[in-house]
Parts: sequence; C-alpha cells; structure tokens
Amino acid sequence: MRTVEWHNGQVRMIDQREIPWKLVTVDLPDYQAVAEAISNMTVRGAPAIGASAAFGMALAARNSSATDLAGLLADLEQAAQVLKASRPTAVNLAWAVDRLMDIARSGEFSNPDDLREALLKIAQQIADEDVAINKRMGQHGAALIKDGDTILHHCNTGALAAVDWGTALGVIRAAHEQGKQIHVLLDETRPRLQGARLSAWELEQYGISYDILPDTAAGYYMQKGEISIAMVGADRIAANGDVANKIGTYQIAVLAKENNIPFYTVAPTSTVDLSLASGTDIPIEQRDPGEVRAPYGNAIVPDHYKARNPAFDVTPNRYVAGIVTENGIARPPFEDSLRRAVAGESL
Ligand code: MRU
Repeated sequence: MRTVEWHNGQVRMIDQREIPWKLVTVDLPDYQAVAEAISNMTVRGAPAIGASAAFGMALAARNSSATDLAGLLADLEQAAQVLKASRPTAVNLAWAVDRLMDIARSGEFSNPDDLREALLKIAQQIADEDVAINKRMGQHGAALIKDGDTILHHCNTGALAAVDWGTALGVIRAAHEQGKQIHVLLDETRPRLQGARLSAWELEQYGISYDILPDTAAGYYMQKGEISIAMVGADRIAANGDVANKIGTYQIAVLAKENNIPFYTVAPTSTVDLSLASGTDIPIEQRDPGEVRAPYGNAIVPDHYKARNPAFDVTPNRYVAGIVTENGIARPPFEDSLRRAVAGESL
C-alpha cells in the first residue's frame, strides 16, 4: 500500500498519527485539506509531503471552476502558495509544487481541461518516480552495510516517509533483503516519536531486528562500540552538503565523529537545494510547544509550562561521510559531487 495516492478523484493517505495502533486512511477532497494534513502531520517525511503536495495541486486544478486558462492559472497560484506554506523545511514540497506550476505556466496548453489532465499525470509521475528512486538509493546504500552491522537510525525514513520503500530505512531494508544479518537501533525521536511509533512498526513488518532507544542513549551505545554506522534521511541539503533533518540529527552526527562511526544521509536529489550555499539559510520549522508538553495529548507537564519545539536541525557537512542519492554516493567535497548528482551524472 502506498503512503499517498490518487483515489477516485481524491487524495488518499495513511493517517500516520494513528500508527502503530491503527492502520487507517483518509480521503481528502480539496487542496486545503491536503495542506492541513501536511501541517498536522497526518502525512510527513520529505518525499511523502512532496508527492502529497503534487496531488494537492492536481486536486486544485480539478476543483477549480475556471473555464479559461487564465482563471485556472490564478487558482493554481493560490493553491501553490497555500501548499508551499504548509511546512517550510523539506524542500521536496516546494520542488514538487514548482514542477507542476512550471507546466501550468508553460503556455503549452490551449484549454483548461488539457492542463488539468497534464497536472494529474505529472503528480502521478512524481509519486511513481519516488518509489523507483528510493529503490535505486537502496541498492547504492546497501553496499555501505556489512553483514553483522548495527545501524543507528533517527526519525522515520521508511515507506511511510516516502510514497513507498523509503530512504535510509529503504537502504536498511535493501541490505536485509540481500541476506545481511543486521540490527537497527531506532532513536525514539522526541517529541513526535517517529522512530518508536513509525520505524518500529515498519521493521516489525519487514522482519528486521531492532530495539527502540531513548534519544539520549545513542552516545552510550556508541561508546560501548555497539554501533557500526549511523544512517538518517534529510529534509533539505544545501549545495555544500550541510544537512537539515529531524531535530537531534546534529548531536548524533557529532557523537558519531567523536566515536569514529561513519555518518551517512540518504536522500533523493529532489532534497538537494543548490540555491542555498550552506545550511545556515535553511528555514527551520518551529512547531507548537504543546507537542513537547503533551505528546499525542498525553500531558507530561501542566499546559502553562514553557517549552520550545524546533522540528529540524542542521548538521554541518564536516560530520557527513557521504550522501546516498539515486545517482550514487556523493562524497566530500560536496559542492562538486552534489552538483553532479543533481545534474543526473552517475557517481
Ligand atoms: O517532521 P517529519 O516527521 O516530517 O520529519 C521527517 C524527517 O526528518 C525525515 O528524516 C526526512 O523527511 C527524510 S524521510 C525520507
């Protein structure tokens, strides 16, 4: 089953807020509902929100009552703005919306229905490509994992974070399917617990051996020599290889270097933002502090206690051993290797 798909003229997605307790889907009738599902994290993970936004644009086109191209384009500009604002850090979202808007603005279409059809086709293509790209990353990245390895993983980067298969967890799954005996240590990933709730749920299904760790335990196991490699996803990668990913990634990368453990990120080239020279300009989403005080409504402290909730951090490129893309593994200096990967060159 895909995390997000077009279904009978609506966008169907798995409601990730219910996992691991229930596997349910929601059907969204308009782009506003898709934008809301992205902000409230019904769907999350950089590639999954990119595909969701693409389908959201197709919905906006379908629902628009415009009878001429100018009217349809105006409705699409409005939808693009709302969808892009739904979450700021993962560049896949803007990348997918821009891909559809480029078609809408191209002047190639003489009637609105042809454009509507073309937009749905491109959204579907983005979703299908995502699965194929993840499988290619899986093959490239699996070469980094040896028989007997224990892999430290942060957040959820599996099928749920993409349309299917996944990025870092997709690499781990590919290594498992190659018959390698591996064990995965899953950071629980406070405050929304994507590691404990979503990654563990996925590994249960794939039959991959794992333990959930409190986020604070990663250093302990590194010091004990129990971790062979750290592997995470990314929400946006700057031209110099600085990596924005789920909050807590930076401290893992620093601890990994201190303990001589290679730290890799796995991301499609749609996550690379060559317009940003370094990670300092990556916008970091600040979420509701209520998620820290009361994760999933379970209060840890009274409501009036002060809290902060940055959703992502930036890991400087000096901590990154390599970036696994669909075109191979980018290595330092990243300015050169990432540019070549984005241009479609095999690394
Ligand atoms: O806030 P989330 O759950 O959307 O954050 C997700 C991550 O940080 C993932 O590591 C990233 O999107 C890459 S997933 C393929």
